[in-house]
Amino acid sequence: MNGKMRIVVLTGAGISKESGLDTFRDAGGVWERYCIEDVATPDGYVRNPAKVHKFYNEQRLYLGEVQPNAAHHALARLEKEIGDRLLIVTQNIDDLHERAGSTRLIHMHGELLKVRCDHCERIWKETGEISTETVCPGCRKKGGVRPHIVWFGEIPLQMDEIFNAIDNCTLFVAIGTSGNVYPAAGFVERARMNDGTGTLELNLEPSIGASRFAEKRYGPASEVVPAWVDQLLGTGTD
Ligand code: APR
Repeated sequence: MNGKMRIVVLTGAGISKESGLDTFRDAGGVWERYCIEDVATPDGYVRNPAKVHKFYNEQRLYLGEVQPNAAHHALARLEKEIGDRLLIVTQNIDDLHERAGSTRLIHMHGELLKVRCDHCERIWKETGEISTETVCPGCRKKGGVRPHIVWFGEIPLQMDEIFNAIDNCTLFVAIGTSGNVYPAAGFVERARMNDGTGTLELNLEPSIGASRFAEKRYGPASEVVPAWVDQLLGTGTD
């Protein structure tokens, strides 16, 4: 690959599907079984915090039963080879990229394994359950501990860093995301504004934003992602 190449990879729920985590909008997906307004909005949390805690507690505990798949491992391998010329921006709240070995990673929608206190803003790692009775280890108050998740209507994390990386990348790749949720769905348009930046969609099927990508490859992430990484690392010299 070209030694000047700088890659931003955006990942979505599709990359974790073969690990055993449901996507949101596919048939049988999370939003068919739960109402977004109830479990993924600030208003839903105010209305019924116990319901929201249960939703995320169950997912947090289930994370221990799943493993990264070949797609996560391939991206970690890519980082090993090209280091800080790769940034992964994930919409996923699971920790499968980290467990595969990726370190250059932004969780723009938060992390299931972190919680925070609404009273003092402290953020900490949590692998178990939380409730309205959970006491913040910082300010010692209860009732303010919530999942460190970006809900609909809230601002995604580290957007300045993300935009800066996109504005300076030579290749933007979206993996396993349906292109329904902004601002992530708009990243490809932003990347296309750079002179000469390539755009690639790797997904099970064309996303709703497929036409915005110059190149597309379709199939399960566990197949198309390792094949793309092999091709990238195997062609040419640095
Ligand atoms: N390999 C590759 N892609 C897959 C696979 C697979 N094995 N299985 C499903 N997909 C694709 C689907 O075709 C779909 O395009 O993954 C995409 C998943 O789309 P969504 O369920 O909409 O997930 P995502 O795009 O990550 O959602 C964005 O929406 O509700 C929110 O906050 C949540 O971060 C999430 C955001």
